[in-house]
Amino acid sequence: MLVTGGAGFIGANFVQQTVATRPDVQVTVLDALTYAGNRASLDPVAERIEFVHGDIADLDLVDNLVSGVDAVVHFAAESHNDNSLAEPWPFVQTNIVGTYSLLQAVRRHNVRYHHVSTDEVYGDLTPDEPGFTESTAYNPSSPYSATKAGSDMLVRAWTRSFGVRATLSNCSNNYGPYQHVEKFIPRQITNLIDGVRPRLYGAGHQVRDWIHVDDHNRAVWDILERGRTGQTYLIGAQGELDNLTVVQLILRAFDREPTDFDHVTDRPGHDQRYAIDASLLREELGWSPRYADFRAGLADTVAWYRDNENWWRPKKADTERAYAAAGEKTL
Ligand code: NAD
Ligand code: DAU
Repeated sequence: MLVTGGAGFIGANFVQQTVATRPDVQVTVLDALTYAGNRASLDPVAERIEFVHGDIADLDLVDNLVSGVDAVVHFAAESHNDNSLAEPWPFVQTNIVGTYSLLQAVRRHNVRYHHVSTDEVYGDLTPDEPGFTESTAYNPSSPYSATKAGSDMLVRAWTRSFGVRATLSNCSNNYGPYQHVEKFIPRQITNLIDGVRPRLYGAGHQVRDWIHVDDHNRAVWDILERGRTGQTYLIGAQGELDNLTVVQLILRAFDREPTDFDHVTDRPGHDQRYAIDASLLREELGWSPRYADFRAGLADTVAWYRDNENWWRPKKADTERAYAAAGEKTL
């Protein structure tokens, strides 16, 4: 199996889970080790996998790697909305051109392909609307979500026009170990470890539908093994919470007062609410989340960041400098 983006947050957890639960699978990771990639996230399985340092948009490299595998699971992406607002080009290059490169290779070699995508392709919901389903119309808001939407469309076209054996999944917000400190939950946990107040965008009333990364990755395996070709599956664990509540749960884990945070500049175009209806995945493939309790999963995640400072510390100062340079201000 070729796993792209295997040195990133979800990809590294996927590779670790795969090695632990499916010892017969031989994994090759292809990762460009951008600012978001970290070889150390694969240390626990380094002896059990092959690692290739390279770009998914490198057509010859990708063709060569794909020719030797039975399946490709595609996680590699530029993944952070705030970065896409500051500089969109790498998102177009990696998320669209990179996906094109993989699709051409799996087409040529008739290799099974799973495409990992996001609920953000559907835009956002009002408080009263039902959750996204597989038939919700695409309506992306940010350069990140627009390029992920574009990559999904390429997969659908390559499946219909060229018979590529592909499945797609669109998942809600993940949390868990090995997530980059630019993202909401690890940023606030590591701020608190450093004695810095959490940073909440605007009033903090936006809602995200949280799922533990291991539950996401178990669903990817279910789809890979039993999903229907050409089908999209939505992945979510009924974990809707507003950002203010999440910050206050993190503060409680550090025995801090619920008002001990700062409101900072809001994100332009900030999506209000995401929510997933995962009925198809649950009913057709029998998937259900093991982390049904967000508070327990969050406690595990706080403990992981406390115990693994050597993993995140090298990225922390640069990340905070980038937020300051982008104009983030306390309100
Ligand atoms: P991440 O930013 O943590 O990791 C991305 C990885 O891709 C990094 O290791 C990076 O080095 C690698 N990469 C980037 N550009 C590359 C290129 N051109 N060639 C090869 N490798 C490259 O991202 P993540 O949060 O782990 O997300 C993984 C996938 O899951 C993405 O496709 C994302 O859109 C999707 N997704 C993420 C979430 C979430 O909550 N994080 C939710 C739903 C879907
Ligand atoms: O929904 C799936 C998506 O979830 C994935 O496709 C993306 O790759 C992933 O980054 C995530 O996108 P979000 O933009 O929702 O995640 P982020 O962690 O950046 O922010 C979560 C929420 O928290 C969002 O409403 C913005 C807010 N936020 C974020 C940061 C970094 C804050 O209030 N303060 C912060 O410091």
